[in-house]
Amino acid sequence: MVRFYRAVCWVVACCCLQVLCTADTCTDYTADDEPKRSVQYNATTNSTLLCDRGLSTGWYRFTSAAGGEMPTTCPPNFACGTREPMWLNGGHPAVQDGEVNRTVCVRQSDDCCGLQVDIRVRNCSGFYVYYLTSPPGCDMAYCAGTETPCPAGTTSSNSNFTPGCARPNTPAGTTNTAAVIVPVLCIVFMLLFFGGGLILYKGKRYGHERSVHVSPSPVRRKYSVPTIDE
Ligand SMILES: *[C@@H]1O[C@H](CO)[C@@H](O)[C@H](O)[C@H]1NC(C)=O
Ligand SMILES: *[C@@H]1O[C@H](CO)[C@@H](O)[C@H](O)[C@H]1NC(C)=O
Ligand SMILES: *[C@@H]1O[C@H](CO)[C@@H](O)[C@H](O)[C@H]1NC(C)=O
Ligand SMILES: *[C@@H]1O[C@H](CO)[C@@H](O)[C@H](O)[C@H]1NC(C)=O
Repeated sequence: MVRFYRAVCWVVACCCLQVLCTADTCTDYTADDEPKRSVQYNATTNSTLLCDRGLSTGWYRFTSAAGGEMPTTCPPNFACGTREPMWLNGGHPAVQDGEVNRTVCVRQSDDCCGLQVDIRVRNCSGFYVYYLTSPPGCDMAYCAGTETPCPAGTTSSNSNFTPGCARPNTPAGTTNTAAVIVPVLCIVFMLLFFGGGLILYKGKRYGHERSVHVSPSPVRRKYSVPTIDE
């Protein structure tokens, strides 16, 4: 009887360990936060192209502001920050489907499925995780997300995605305030400058007139400001 209980204990303990030690793909994944994976991101031939060759095989979740889902339609050339974008050729699973096998296509110029890569996908109720492997070459990268990045030279608080894109250092609010403050300061300055000048001018003029009355010295007259009535 003791032996039986001991055996049961061992079995229960082993099962617990199994459950605890088995990695759940919905919590044990690598986060990838590369915003250039967006299908809206156009990699110019000048920019550094993304290349997933050498990517470690494993479960990934796309966490950037671009969005977390792989596109299921063929992206344009140079989309996703790379030359040959990789897209999911098949639908996303529901939670109850568990881990499903899917094919990823590599777009090569006009061929939307020039190469294929096997992946797995799981719906974690709110986000997806993808079991990815290294693509066969460069420049190939997995696409993820559909958000539109800010135009060149602008940034946004939304990780540089639309909306709210503006030139750095001049956020919308500051621009408006500056647009009001600068002309006001200008006017104040001009009033002070010309107003001050006018007072000075008037002062000198009266001084000159007084000097004419009190001591009409030609030396003083020489240094006086020329006036219209002279
Ligand atoms: C790429 O670089 C060339 C030469 O440096 C430049 O003339 C061209 O405007 C650049 N194109 C883009 C899209 O940045
Ligand atoms: C990126 O620009 C090239 C050349 O202008 C164009 O052929 C391509 O379709 C564009 N891709 C995206 C994702 O907008
Ligand atoms: C998914 O693919 C793996 C390896 O290619 C295979 O062993 C497995 O049976 C497949 N699963 C399903 C549900 O088709
Ligand atoms: C996951 O599956 C559920 C249904 O099981 C579906 O409503 C949902 O849209 C799917 N996607 C995500 C990201 O949760």
